[in-house]
Amino acid sequence: MPARQAILVFDSGLGGLTVLREIVRARPDARYVYVADDAFFPYGHHGEQQLIARVVPLVGELIGVHAPDLVVIACNTASTLVLSHLRAAYSVPFVGTVPAIKPACASSRSKRISVLGTKGTVKREYTQALIRDFAQGCEVTLVGSGNLAALGEAALNGGGVSDEDILAEIAPCFVEGPEDSSFRTDTVVLACTHFPLLTDRLVALAPWPVDWIDPAPAIARRVANLLGPGHGAADHARAEMIFTSGRRHALTEALQPFFGGRVPA
Ligand code: DGL
Repeated sequence: MPARQAILVFDSGLGGLTVLREIVRARPDARYVYVADDAFFPYGHHGEQQLIARVVPLVGELIGVHAPDLVVIACNTASTLVLSHLRAAYSVPFVGTVPAIKPACASSRSKRISVLGTKGTVKREYTQALIRDFAQGCEVTLVGSGNLAALGEAALNGGGVSDEDILAEIAPCFVEGPEDSSFRTDTVVLACTHFPLLTDRLVALAPWPVDWIDPAPAIARRVANLLGPGHGAADHARAEMIFTSGRRHALTEALQPFFGGRVPA
């Protein structure tokens, strides 16, 4: 039997688990290494030069240690900035996560969408270019959230997160025309991988129903296309979880569903 392919999934924290979950569904047979750079969390609060200087060498070290067949940068704040640097520096294939502006604009009926990301992601030239190239006549509202990623982490860690705190972060996404509600926002792009950790709360708290666009299934399809169909049974596929702070995770039950039921070492 051929050796199991290894996929390294990288994020600033636990948000990338929402992408990992979909990749594991697409390729249950692969070996997974999930790396949370929690020592530097949240990425959304760091400057661009600081992030490049942090992420590019760190991912290089991880490639050296784990020899992955493919690396997923499961973080919009990093992908919109460092993907080109990573591809120039290392030969392993990379898949990134970037705001799903094109499909959101294509499916919006009111032609008014919002992009909810970190403050870093909405400021990026990369994001501006996606709007210039793919808005297709849509009005795009950029909403940079300072706290929603941390609220997602807190919720996954079992902490109480109040409705008010979530609503304060998402309220600017909901834009209404002066008279006619057919011109109000009908689509919100989840442009941070932490936000789908809170999907049920987002749906419940939205002032009116919208389509929430989570690109994780599309990212998983891309990974499966690049690596090809799986080999071997999923039963003994291993998974490892690494925190750059060196802490041990105490989240076994909460994490298991993201790893397709297996317990990450
Ligand atoms: N999960 C990350 C993203 O997709 C960001 C969270 C952070 O600020 O570190 O943008």
